[in-house]
Amino acid sequence: MNTILIVDDNPANLSVLSDALDEEGFEIWVAKSGKVALERVQYALPDLILLDIMMPEIDGYETCRQLKVNSQTQDIPVIFMTALSDTVNKVEGFQVGAVDYITKPFQQEEVISRVKLHLKLHDLAEKLEHKNTLLEDNYAELKLAYKNLQQMQIKLIQNEKLLSVGQMIAGIAHEINNPVNFIYGNLAHANEYIQNILSLLYLYQEEYPNPSSHIRVKSEEIDIDFIKDDLSKLINSMNIGAKRIHEIVKSTKNFSRVDETTMKACDIHEGIDSTLTVLNYRLKSKLEYPSIEVSKNYGQLPLVECYLGQLNQVFLNIIANAIDALDDYNQQRSLEEVIKQPSIIKISTKLIDNNWIAIQIADNGLGMSKEVQEKIFEPFFTTKPIGKGTGLGLSMSYEIVQKHGGYIYYQSTPNVGTEFTIKIPVQQKF
Ligand SMILES: Nc1ncnc2c1ncn2[C@@H]1O[C@H](COP(=O)(O)OP(=O)(O)O)[C@@H](O)[C@H]1O
Ligand SMILES: [Mg+2]
Repeated sequence: MNTILIVDDNPANLSVLSDALDEEGFEIWVAKSGKVALERVQYALPDLILLDIMMPEIDGYETCRQLKVNSQTQDIPVIFMTALSDTVNKVEGFQVGAVDYITKPFQQEEVISRVKLHLKLHDLAEKLEHKNTLLEDNYAELKLAYKNLQQMQIKLIQNEKLLSVGQMIAGIAHEINNPVNFIYGNLAHANEYIQNILSLLYLYQEEYPNPSSHIRVKSEEIDIDFIKDDLSKLINSMNIGAKRIHEIVKSTKNFSRVDETTMKACDIHEGIDSTLTVLNYRLKSKLEYPSIEVSKNYGQLPLVECYLGQLNQVFLNIIANAIDALDDYNQQRSLEEVIKQPSIIKISTKLIDNNWIAIQIADNGLGMSKEVQEKIFEPFFTTKPIGKGTGLGLSMSYEIVQKHGGYIYYQSTPNVGTEFTIKIPVQQKF
């Protein structure tokens, strides 16, 4: 049953109205002044208020205003009652929040139907509002679910990618390792044998200073003096080459570390260096552009408890981004400008206190605008053309650093450069 509060200082009006509405089955409360009405609503709330405008002390407008500023009562529909003879301002009534007017003397039918109409409207509005909040809640839930799904997809892609790329690299490194060792390991013996054969040759030359014409012709034909001279140089450069392949294979194995299932105490510098070896081909000069200089400033670091293979991915992503930013910047600059202000990547590490280390990777490339900066850790955000950027590098890096209980942040200025800082604890606390 709906309750209706009638507020009027005229007892005759009150009784006419309450009788009529009572007959319709409403519960009726009455108040003889605005003041009484305002007190009354503090105890119980009616569903609708019929409010006389002309009343002593607090008039209808003021009563309505006070009802509307109170969050408890502001939603109760208010219908003003005026005598035809009153010179009231209807606009003001609507402005203070009334939903309707009825005019005295009352037409019973009209009063009842207006009251019913507004109760119905109010009810519908309430239902609509409820539905809206439900929809909003659903929407928020849906958005969250979508975000979670996206995060999960990235993790899957990341794991899959890390695993497959890592496994492939580790596989190749392993396969190359054996043949390289054949060469590297046997070069020393080969050198020894050659020296022996050469000394034997010298001995022959000494003992038989006048060889047959057959031997003389052959010696001249193969230029034996040059061979003797060049052979040691040749062996030496083969040695250097084999050693280099051996190092690359070692770095590649270090870099991928597919076998890592638990955190281990690792040398961060070894990680950065193997990452630089893997990226070496991108740092070398391209076309007419000079190479990118890498300046290292390593501090004294303790071993850090981590998944080094994963941290290497972070270094790789950040350094690869720096190289992209430098390449893009150089595309926009003339060769003179590039030579005057050459591309450089500065990598520094330091121990902040006994528990934390910081790694900083800075470039003097293109930098980022404010709009780009806001989004760089978002999955799939990229400013690079399709095929070049996936927009996953930094979001993956963020996840990995977070997994280590660390932080990653940056500082960037357009056309000046970008600096990323990674902070991770030396030891993981569980
Ligand atoms: N060192 C940097 N200099 C300028 N912009 C950068 C740098 N590092 C990252 N960005 C910006 O952040 C975006 C997202 O990077 P990332 O997640 O690695 O994805 P991707 O490299 O595939 O675009 C890049 O597209 C680029 O706009
Ligand atoms: Mg990237």
